[in-house]
Amino acid sequence: MPTAAPEEAHGFEIFQHYERLQWKVSELGLENVRRDLVDPAYISLVKGVVMGEATSLPGLHGFLSEFDDDYDCSAFVAVWAYQELQHHYAFRA
Ligand SMILES: [Fe+2]
Repeated sequence: MPTAAPEEAHGFEIFQHYERLQWKVSELGLENVRRDLVDPAYISLVKGVVMGEATSLPGLHGFLSEFDDDYDCSAFVAVWAYQELQHHYAFRA
């Protein structure tokens, strides 16, 4: 359990910073991709990226366990993990 109370931490500032950078997979316009123009080499590349981005959840578990007494770090890791999961699903889509 994090020991620093949220009002004493700067996790909210970090949250606000990353909140401004948010985007949505639904906004990517994936329905407009011309599949007939995609170089097959890029498909192999993207499949590799999908696998790499899928490691964020084990990373999240590890960071939260390792830094369970650090509120700011845990807050950042939560935001980071969301974004990494978003990357995973964006490349998968
Ligand atoms: Fe990523």
